[in-house]
This record gives sequence, structure tokens and C-alpha cells, in this order.
Amino acid sequence: MAEQTVNLLLDLDATDDRDPVLDWTEVFGVNQPVELEIGIGKGRFVMEAAAARPHTSFVALEWAGKYLRIALERSRKRDLRNIRFVKAEAREFVEFFVPSSSLAAMYILFPDPWPKKRHHKRRLIDAAFLREVERTLCPGGRLWLATDHAEYFAVMEDILASSDWLYPVHAEWMGVRTNYEDKFLARGMPIFRKVVERGGREPV
Ligand SMILES: C[S@@+](CC[C@H](N)C(=O)[O-])C[C@H]1O[C@@H](n2cnc3c(N)ncnc32)[C@H](O)[C@@H]1O
Repeated sequence: MAEQTVNLLLDLDATDDRDPVLDWTEVFGVNQPVELEIGIGKGRFVMEAAAARPHTSFVALEWAGKYLRIALERSRKRDLRNIRFVKAEAREFVEFFVPSSSLAAMYILFPDPWPKKRHHKRRLIDAAFLREVERTLCPGGRLWLATDHAEYFAVMEDILASSDWLYPVHAEWMGVRTNYEDKFLARGMPIFRKVVERGGREPV
């Protein structure tokens, strides 16, 4: 069922050189708020959100095909119409395909912490990615972060504190627990959460 996935292949016959930025209204067939979850795993969080909020469109991104296939299959069984699955690397997808000021929310829940110092450069959340978050969230749009990893969380907090556009908000955490969250809670590990909101003007 191709309609639940987003085709990122470019039209090589196109004669113009426009950027491949997606048009959400075209992608979903409806003009309503769009939310993106990055690294959905098997997709429990995003699918529950899509089922609970049919008047919001959800982009579900994951680069691991084995997880994405499970999520897509479950979503088909539930006949969720307001969700699209993307198999892509998160940084590239956001940078090249997500229009500016187009997301009402972005969720990054239990991103890979890459605990070894020599692997820190593989972490998703860094200063460059923060610029993309600032660019793609609409005014009032929110970034929702959760991790079990104290050191990565401290890094995230430092990076977020450097933003002129994102402000911490005390939002009640919403949605269901993710698969990883269940695992970490079962091991008695602490969960760190942060929600920030984009201010009202356009970042340059
Ligand atoms: C620790 S798991 C968490 C999964 C899910 N959010 C949860 O809480 O159960 C991290 C997920 O992010 C995906 N991922 C990590 N880096 C990614 C990237 N750069 N682009 C797309 N997906 C990524 C992984 O394949 C994995 O499924």
C-alpha cells in the first residue's frame, strides 16, 4: 500500500532545479497540522498519536527497514489515514525535504546516545541539527525530547540553551510509552524529558 509511504525519489526528467522540498498538503491530501517523529522504532508512539488525533498529519521517520516494515504493517492493519512513513536518514530528510515553518511538533524519543566519546559525532542532536529544528518548527511548534542517558541529556540542554528561538515550556508529557521507554523503566532507569517551543518570528 504505497499511499502510506512518502516517495523521496526525484523526477530526473524534471527540467527545473527546484529544491525537493515536500508539500505536506500534497503528501497527505489534506491541509492540517503536521508532526514529525524521528526514529520511530516499531512506531507505537506515532501510531497511537495518529489514532487519537485524526485532524493532525504524522510523518513517521525511521532508517532501519526491519522496524519500519513492522510499523507500516501495523499501521495498515489499523487503517490509519493520517500517517506517512519515511525511510531516510533523519538529518538529510529534515534538511532537504522538510519545508520551513511547517511542523507543529517534532518528537525525538530515546535517540541513540552513542555513549563512547569517539562516537559522539554520530549523535543526531547537535548545534547544526538545532538550526534545522528552529527552521522547520512553525511559531508555537514544539520539540519533544526524551532520553534515558544523563550525559546526552545534559548536552541536549546545553545546545537548546544556545537557541534564540526555542524556549523551554512546562508541558504535560503526552502520548503512550515507547518500546524503549518500557525497557528503560523496567530496568529502573531514570527518564529525562524536555519540551521547547519555537518563538513567534521567523529564524533567519
Ligand atoms: C533507541 S531507538 C528508539 C526507538 C523509539 N523512539 C522508542 O523509543 O522505542 C532509536 C531509533 O532511532 C533510529 N535512528 C537512529 N538514528 C537515526 C537517523 N539518523 N535517522 C533515522 N533513524 C534513526 C534507530 O534505527 C532506532 O530505531
